[in-house]
Amino acid sequence: MSLVFVLNGPNLNRLGRREPGIYGTETLDSLMARLHARAEALGLALDARQSNHEGHLVDWLHEADDRGALAVLLNAGAFTHSSIAIRDAILAISTPVIEVHLSNPAAREPFRHVSHVAPVARGVIQGFGALSYLLALDAAAAMRQGQP
Ligand code: DQA
Repeated sequence: MSLVFVLNGPNLNRLGRREPGIYGTETLDSLMARLHARAEALGLALDARQSNHEGHLVDWLHEADDRGALAVLLNAGAFTHSSIAIRDAILAISTPVIEVHLSNPAAREPFRHVSHVAPVARGVIQGFGALSYLLALDAAAAMRQGQP
């Protein structure tokens, strides 16, 4: 069974009570539970994690590659806009990375308009709330057939 890693970065453990007007009221646990259910329906194994620490995300990107993961769904949170180390980690692995955001950073503050992940990601899905993750999982599932 193909394995998909889901890596959530800083402050995403506060979902549900963090700026609900932007990120909604669903908790990360609830969102990951829905994603697990969708993965099961698609015949995918999911390994979902969250950390507030940049180095953990770097280590887990390497691990996803070492374990032959089909894809990584990565919401690097604010590290998206600042982390060269995460960009380099994506370049250091062959597992494709799908960048995911709940909000649409392009429609927010100018400092969120820069993504160090996007240029090295397979694709980006943002702005659809929790649905962004479900759409990204569908994209990962399609990769089994060599698409998209
Ligand atoms: C986010 C967008 C980022 O700009 C922000 O720093 C986050 C969440 C999102 O999912 O919309 O932490 O990645």
